[in-house]
Amino acid sequence: MSVEKVLVVDDDLLGREYLSETLTRNGYEVTSACDGLQALASVSKDGYDLVFLDMKMPGICGMEVLEKIKTISPETVVVLMTAYGTIETAVEAMKKGAYDYIIKPFSPDQVELVIARINERQQLIVENKYWRSNSNIDEKMNSVFTKNSKMFQIYEQIKKIAQSKASVLVQGESGTGKELVARAIHFHSHRYERPFIRVNCAALTETLLESELFGHERGAYTGAISKHVGRFELANEGTLLLDEISEISPNIQAKLLRVLEEEEFERVGGEKTIKIDVRIVATTNRDLVEEIQKGTFREDLYYRLNVVPICLPPLRERREDIPLLVNYYLKKYSLENNTIAKSMDTETMDYLCQYHWPGNVRELKNVIQRAVVMNFPNGLQLEQFNDLFIHHDTKKSEGLLTDGKAIEDVERDLIYSTLEKTNGNKTRAAELLKITTRTLRNKLNKYDAADRCSHQRETISCVK
Ligand SMILES: Nc1ncnc2c1ncn2[C@@H]1O[C@H](COP(=O)(O)OP(=O)(O)OP(=O)(O)O)[C@@H](O)[C@H]1O
Ligand SMILES: [Mg+2]
Repeated sequence: MSVEKVLVVDDDLLGREYLSETLTRNGYEVTSACDGLQALASVSKDGYDLVFLDMKMPGICGMEVLEKIKTISPETVVVLMTAYGTIETAVEAMKKGAYDYIIKPFSPDQVELVIARINERQQLIVENKYWRSNSNIDEKMNSVFTKNSKMFQIYEQIKKIAQSKASVLVQGESGTGKELVARAIHFHSHRYERPFIRVNCAALTETLLESELFGHERGAYTGAISKHVGRFELANEGTLLLDEISEISPNIQAKLLRVLEEEEFERVGGEKTIKIDVRIVATTNRDLVEEIQKGTFREDLYYRLNVVPICLPPLRERREDIPLLVNYYLKKYSLENNTIAKSMDTETMDYLCQYHWPGNVRELKNVIQRAVVMNFPNGLQLEQFNDLFIHHDTKKSEGLLTDGKAIEDVERDLIYSTLEKTNGNKTRAAELLKITTRTLRNKLNKYDAADRCSHQRETISCVK
């Protein structure tokens, strides 16, 4: 579902070649057109995932080409290329269906960033389509395996509260399924056709989070070169998931309280009051009551968020679900890896059921994925899970997730060293790695996002 075929439309030969080369080097399939007519002919004939479109061209102007592309091929994403002085027109074009704009001259990194954002959005659309594809939520919840009575009660509770607008606070250790619950609430409510928007409060610095949540006006602060619509506005009539809510600063806590109470706010640097209708689901893996006692979390905000509390039990308190989850992920990853799901002997399963799973369902998922990828020829056996038991015995729970990620680390090193060998040529690297360029790009985007995230986390902990 990510971007593969790209059309570059620019009357300027140098500009056209520069962008086409940048994209080709990064493994995209690129065609170029020197005017609107040629562009429209290509779009009708070949269909493209993405079009980079110059605004100012002789003959049919960019705006008209944009409108026609949107009629011929509504799924095609259009990014406008514009000079600094014509940003206003670009903003106008976004109202007509352009996805984004990029100011000339731009660097290859900026191009990749735009594409990464498009891919992220496409992924979200696919996910949302899946959840909406059949409004029978019970069927969807079947992918949430459980035999546990407490979990059943939670699902019943979700069905009951989904229709209301009450804020929900989902608490639970990392990997217990808090986000899954948030999605279930949204897609079981009458809001299911409206957006489900997520913000990870721990991943952004205070200024960035403020502008992500509430948006900003042009010139609100240095670097705010254009208006930015925040996630509250994007989530209008839908649901906003505030992940890791304990991490927000006192300033943002105060702003959030006002939005929850009055359902209105102003963009950063703006005067206009914006009314919204958003359902809030917040998650935390910290004890907010403790945070209140420490003075780091506002009590009034806590009560606003905690209208309906949902506490997810850790996996070790619902061990009867472990075989269900193990078998589910065995099947899933075997299918994905084109192998036949290997049976698991009872001894191994017993051990997995005894293990204390500090990383909960996410850890279980990673461990099973690793076992399947290692593809032991004789089915899954106990020795494959040795690491787990070493930690289990010594109760060194911390190391486990790192272990679960070891494969990813090895893969990442291999990818970067191959890219070094090919001087950054992604097409060549993908060939050597025997994966598609799309897979390679997706992996690189994932590493990038993770790096950005950990960098921001570090910044946050420094600020504290
Ligand atoms: N009951 C379940 N059945 C199947 N898969 C589950 C279940 N609970 C969680 N998962 C899977 O486990 C992973 C972690 O779930 P999720 O992201 O919802 O956890 P979380 O509590 O939000 O974790 P974190 O605190 O780290 O953000 C996801 O891949 C999710 O699909
Ligand atoms: Mg989560």
